[in-house]
Amino acid sequence: MVDAREAMERLNAEAGGLHIWLRTQANAPAQRPWFRETGLTVGGELATGRVGTAQLKPVPHRWRWTEIAPYLDKIAEIAHGADVSPIEFAERQQFLLTNPGLGGRLQVTSTMRCAVSIYNPGDVAPVHIHTPNASRTILSDEGGYTTIEGERCEAARGDLILTPNGTWHDHGNDGSKPVVWIDVLDFPLMEFLDCVWLDEAYPGGTQGNSRAQPVSLPGSYSHKLYGQGGLVPSFVAHRRGFGRDTSPLFHYRGAEVREALAGLRQEEGDPYDAIALRFVNPATGASVFPTLDYRAQLLRPGEATRFKRETASTLYVAIEGQGVTEIAGRRLDWQTNDIFIVPSFAWRRHINQGEADAVLYAVSDAPLMEKIGQYRAQGRLPDDTVAELVP
Ligand SMILES: [Fe+2]
Repeated sequence: MVDAREAMERLNAEAGGLHIWLRTQANAPAQRPWFRETGLTVGGELATGRVGTAQLKPVPHRWRWTEIAPYLDKIAEIAHGADVSPIEFAERQQFLLTNPGLGGRLQVTSTMRCAVSIYNPGDVAPVHIHTPNASRTILSDEGGYTTIEGERCEAARGDLILTPNGTWHDHGNDGSKPVVWIDVLDFPLMEFLDCVWLDEAYPGGTQGNSRAQPVSLPGSYSHKLYGQGGLVPSFVAHRRGFGRDTSPLFHYRGAEVREALAGLRQEEGDPYDAIALRFVNPATGASVFPTLDYRAQLLRPGEATRFKRETASTLYVAIEGQGVTEIAGRRLDWQTNDIFIVPSFAWRRHINQGEADAVLYAVSDAPLMEKIGQYRAQGRLPDDTVAELVP
């Protein structure tokens, strides 16, 4: 008796040289059939046999901070004793995270790029503007700044600083200690859409050797305009930069996010995401970027959420505490500053295994999926049936 599947795989491998593909699986040859109902413990089978390199899919993955952070120190050391600082020739001192499922591409999901950057005292990234939306999640306690459209935002741990599509921005550190943050961009998506471009010719000229833009707005400008929940100024246009549908609030403060989460920790919360708050465009209530949604969530000690899956990929950063996230049958433990990925439509749940509260920040491409009519979310009920979470 011939094993037809195996025989087909063999034949397909043989046919590869002719640049043809023998269909060996239903619907999606060589892709993980992640869209099938595969139960709670399995998130999809890996394709076997000849696999199309153009059909790479992100996988669940966690980067341990204790493993990757030493490379920041090593970069900083080289900068310290070098003839030329790496920031001069590489523009940034950073490493990019590469999802092991994506064959070495500089991206963590099909839509997102993530980098971890270090700025030594005196470092400046010159002013520039680009079409990808970008954000910074600050890991250092304090120090470092980003100036966006003339507004200087001083960074502190847990802050989210946005540089939306079409805003002039520069970064730097004029403090005395190195500063570390996480950059997240919708760069791969824009690249796919042939929509990436960048400009460095700041109109009107820049300041000094560092090529920074002049600060033209008062300190905490964003915060004064939009920092009071429920109040929106009626005397300004809510569009900053040339992008559309991006948040006019550039700086969300970690201390305030933490306080808001703490104030709600007695609430029942969401069965799938616990005590979760969204960072939103204060003028519209929509996601801060048309493509990406940002969220902070608090898990109480011992709290385990129910399983959920959605047609969106999510990047998580553990801001505080320690726990485990089960993703498509894999258990990824995490502690402070670890970063991990939940791919689209993989079942996942979070468990706080520590004795203190845990805080996760999440970035997801759900808004994009909603706009193209593809957003779907499901949850597992206690009786193990599946509920549709999007009406
Ligand atoms: Fe940038």
